[in-house]
Amino acid sequence: MRALNQRKAVSRVVQKPKYPRIPTPKLDTRLTDAEQFLLPTYKRQPFVITAGRGAYVYDSTGKKYLDFLGGIAVNALGHAHPRIVKVIRREAARAIHLSNLYHNAYQGPLARKLAEVSGMDRVFFSNSGTEAADGALKLARLCARTASDAPDKPAAKYRILAMQNSFHGRTFGAVSVTSTEKYRLPFAPLVPGVEFVRFNDITDLESKFDDTVCSVILETIQGEGGIHSVTEAFWNRARSLASQHGALLIADEIQCGLGRTGRYFAYQRFSCKPDIVLVAKPLAAGLPLGAILTSEAVASHVSPGLHGTTFGGGPLICATALEFLNIIESETLLGNVRVRGTELREGLAKLAAKFDFIREIRGEGLILGVELSIDGNPFVAEALRQGLLINCTHDFTLRLLPPFIITRAQVRDFLRLFELVLRKTPKSVSAAPAQATASPRGLAQSAWR
Ligand SMILES: Cc1ncc(COP(=O)(O)O)c(C=O)c1O
Repeated sequence: MRALNQRKAVSRVVQKPKYPRIPTPKLDTRLTDAEQFLLPTYKRQPFVITAGRGAYVYDSTGKKYLDFLGGIAVNALGHAHPRIVKVIRREAARAIHLSNLYHNAYQGPLARKLAEVSGMDRVFFSNSGTEAADGALKLARLCARTASDAPDKPAAKYRILAMQNSFHGRTFGAVSVTSTEKYRLPFAPLVPGVEFVRFNDITDLESKFDDTVCSVILETIQGEGGIHSVTEAFWNRARSLASQHGALLIADEIQCGLGRTGRYFAYQRFSCKPDIVLVAKPLAAGLPLGAILTSEAVASHVSPGLHGTTFGGGPLICATALEFLNIIESETLLGNVRVRGTELREGLAKLAAKFDFIREIRGEGLILGVELSIDGNPFVAEALRQGLLINCTHDFTLRLLPPFIITRAQVRDFLRLFELVLRKTPKSVSAAPAQATASPRGLAQSAWR
């Protein structure tokens, strides 16, 4: 009898799902509703992801995927990290939102922590990366105003230098400094005064810099553009030209910052600092939070009412972001990013020696790009079949953004699956997108990530 009871108990344990499954409705309209009622801004994969645990997600059929995209660099702690779940539960029962008209318990301490790890002095919290970018551009225009500028007229110092191959977001300011035509042209005219510089081309930068420039904005590692790092020489020259001409150097670290390189910030491999740092994606472990980090000198131009937000910096989200930064420290995740990043790169280099259509491996830590000489999109589809989430950017670069918590075994697993994907994917000779000749309408239709 006792043995029977034990067997019953064991079978109950075995049957218990390893993750909280959302029950499938009798009439499953989740995909058709999405197709019928959502604005068609994305080409979504035709399945529903219902849960995640650590470095894995599960779809509604129970299929498991190793997540090497991490919600496009957001889920740095993977999914359902117990400490994050605990903080969210605790704070949801206290106060989800108050208002920026009052202090909350976490905004100040989070700002202090971000200032400490970045070397900046002051912080503004936004709801997304694109809003942080827009706010930074507003700060640059604000700081450039002098007493001789009429308050209702454009300032004499108004030009913004951005980089070719850049991506800073979708709102009007951010998309104005984003170079990719398919994201820009359908919405023209954009914010005036923006010029694009060839990334890492010092001569081009020098030729465009003068006293009318109020800021230069760049991604320390271009993410969407295919994982290209700024060179030390270009960074140093951008810094010195900005200082010489009284312009602000803005580092967009929304994708590459907050630990992804194995340092808190990618610019920390250089000796000089930017004036403004933008962060978002992983900051609140999956909840929407961005931030502008800046110097006391920039902050001295700001007074109440000049900029603001309803949602930015609420108590629940700031408590979660503080816990994210505490976990990075207490679980020594920067070290893990460096070690796993090296293992991953070494494994990818071995694969590059086997498959001649791999052109180059780029990036550092856990922000890596595998550039192919052929269309990368079929590889993403095959990866899904093999239970692997990756992404392809600019048609030829497979982008890997795994969580900071991945283990050696998971890196090995990834490399095994990725080799299978490289072997099995039907190889097609791809045509680059015909950007220059396409109409804005056509471009809008192909504008998805
Ligand atoms: C470098 C960079 N800047 C800005 C953004 C925009 O951030 P968000 O999508 O949160 O508005 C992104 C998003 O991919 C990004 O990668």
